[in-house]
Amino acid sequence: MLREKLIDKFTELFHSQPELFRSPGRINIIGEHTDYNDGFVFPAAINKEIFFAVAKNNVEKIRLYSYDLNEFFETNILKISKSTCHWANYLLGVIAQFHKENTQIQGIDCVFGGNIPLGAGLSSSAALENGFAFALNSIFNFSKSKINLVKIAQKAEHEYAGVQCGIMDQFASMYGLENMAIKLDCRTLEYEYAPLNLGAYTFLLCNTKVSHSLASSEYNIRRRQCEEGVAILKKFDSKITALRDVNSLFLEAYKESLSALIYKRCKFVVSENERVYKAFKALETNDLYKLGQLMYQSHKGLRNNYEVSCSELDFLVEESLKNSNVLGARMMGGGFGGCTLNLLRINEIENFSQHIIDSYKMKFGIEPEIYTVQIANGTGACK
Ligand code: GLA
Repeated sequence: MLREKLIDKFTELFHSQPELFRSPGRINIIGEHTDYNDGFVFPAAINKEIFFAVAKNNVEKIRLYSYDLNEFFETNILKISKSTCHWANYLLGVIAQFHKENTQIQGIDCVFGGNIPLGAGLSSSAALENGFAFALNSIFNFSKSKINLVKIAQKAEHEYAGVQCGIMDQFASMYGLENMAIKLDCRTLEYEYAPLNLGAYTFLLCNTKVSHSLASSEYNIRRRQCEEGVAILKKFDSKITALRDVNSLFLEAYKESLSALIYKRCKFVVSENERVYKAFKALETNDLYKLGQLMYQSHKGLRNNYEVSCSELDFLVEESLKNSNVLGARMMGGGFGGCTLNLLRINEIENFSQHIIDSYKMKFGIEPEIYTVQIANGTGACK
């Protein structure tokens, strides 16, 4: 098992006994690009995860080993700065945030590895930041709250990975609960768990295996475009501080004051927020058909108005529309590649997966990956 392998590697490299931690990736049922607009999201942690073997080292060094990449990174604890080592930045970013909060990290060793596919929109980076933040908090007895750790992880992403992400990924990975999705208000950070009783249905992920390089630059651009929209709309109602405060009626009334591009961006976010609310209700009343329709609408908005989809994702969603046992599908996460999330009949998984594999391979010459998901607990120590 991976956990044992990590511990073995740790003792081989550092000759001491580590503590073990786990941090999961996430899916998001609906509510894409709403988090940084102070809106609502509906994510859940999943059984794709990263494990961390961690211990103090008493030598004032940060020594990190990525088991999956078979790469080692080392630096002095007093010299934390951005590195050219891509993966180390997620962890260094976390340490830098602890230091900013005047919680000094001493020498630490860490071996980590997992099974969250990279660039698949399943938040492997949030899992990495969260898991390390949780481990440091526990090993150095800082008693920081979970929400504090979530914010540390998010800031690490902003400052060391250069993505101005919202809070959804880190929150979902930290607060996940088995078989529960999380209704999260990204403004107040109030949340509620919603049982995922899907009966004869389930969620299935189809990984395009592409991750276009536009992803992080376009992400930051979308964020600015939303702010631009808010700056204009607040002239008509000073209470507006984020797109969360705008509804469809208001947006239509002041449409002419926005450029066509900014209107499209706002239109998507405002409608997506409204869809999240409808999705909460649909799940509550067991109306999976409705939930599926909302997922399709979400994809359409992400493709046409927010323009963060790509031909590979669109193709997978189009194929799902041909199968009446699939109730809904959409691209998931930031966009420009990664996975689609599909809501389909459990007994259709095999048939649908085979069709997706064959047709996608034929079209793009790439073998897609298909994952069934179980909804799992959030970041924590392993017993
Ligand atoms: C990425 C970000 C999240 C969120 C999604 C889009 O996953 O990290 O904060 O904005 O994109 O919903």
